[in-house]
Amino acid sequence: MISEPLRHPLSLFDNKGKVAIVTGASGAFGRGCAITLGALGGKLVLASGSKGELDEVATEVKEVGGEVETIVRRPDSLDDAKAMLDAALTRFGRVDQLVVASGMNKPGFIHELDYEDWQAVMDANVRGIWLMAKAVGSHWIANKQRGKVLLMSSVRGRHGNYSGYTGYCTSKGATDSLTRVLATEWAKHGITVNAIAPTVFRSKLTAWMYGDDQLGQQTRARSLSRIPLGRLGEVEDLMGMAVYLLTPASDFCTGQIMYVDGGYTAG
Ligand SMILES: NC(=O)c1ccc[n+]([C@@H]2O[C@H](COP(=O)([O-])OP(=O)(O)OC[C@H]3O[C@@H](n4cnc5c(N)ncnc54)[C@H](OP(=O)(O)O)[C@@H]3O)[C@@H](O)[C@H]2O)c1
Repeated sequence: MISEPLRHPLSLFDNKGKVAIVTGASGAFGRGCAITLGALGGKLVLASGSKGELDEVATEVKEVGGEVETIVRRPDSLDDAKAMLDAALTRFGRVDQLVVASGMNKPGFIHELDYEDWQAVMDANVRGIWLMAKAVGSHWIANKQRGKVLLMSSVRGRHGNYSGYTGYCTSKGATDSLTRVLATEWAKHGITVNAIAPTVFRSKLTAWMYGDDQLGQQTRARSLSRIPLGRLGEVEDLMGMAVYLLTPASDFCTGQIMYVDGGYTAG
């Protein structure tokens, strides 16, 4: 007998009615996820510190048929994280998916970098994940509800970098570790936790790498020389993996760092 998933394989990617919280929703990856999930029938709670940009993304999500709520917050404290959870529960009555797309970088060589800048990167990229996981995961566990978490790592979680990345690389190594430890801790609750690890894709974060100045050209050339597929990424390149990791298709996949990197880590 042919099972349902084999007979109707697209049902594995069903997202209709699912409620997602997306932090950093004003950014490239957050926006991409919000629109994609909205187009697949999802309901979105979009969070970021920039009201204007958030409103623009909300309009785009509605344009593709998604329902949307916005909250002007970054995950800086447990109160912020709980406020995002409350926004989801108040508007939609539940939450099924958590996407932590907030993050930043402050490149600088360690002998020149201020400690505060290093700490700011760790806070944005690691503390934010921990706080969101604590707020949303506690809710799921208390309510005996399954859930899916998608984190944003980077090839920098595995590789060093020439450009003054003691904060960024360390924060992504910690993201990889959080992915594995949360996945292990929460498997018995039916909660999956995975991360996407891209190489460079176009966003505010990487705008400087796309510039025509010497730094932009050099950095781009160095990245391209390591990418077998011969180009940098676009956010659309990441959406197939994001949908997989947030839908039933990935129910037997947890604790994984998924490299969507044009082959960067293969060579
Ligand atoms: N682009 C790449 O090449 C690349 C490669 C590998 C991994 N990543 C990772 O992908 C994730 C998304 O990045 P992106 O490329 O989409 O960047 P992006 O377009 O700059 O978006 C990042 C978002 O994070 C928020 N943010 C900025 N500073 C923050 C802070 N201090 N605390 C909390 N939130 C802050 C911003 O929202 P508000 O300012 O509105 O709050 C922004 O919308 C990040 O974790 C990044 O490290 C990106």
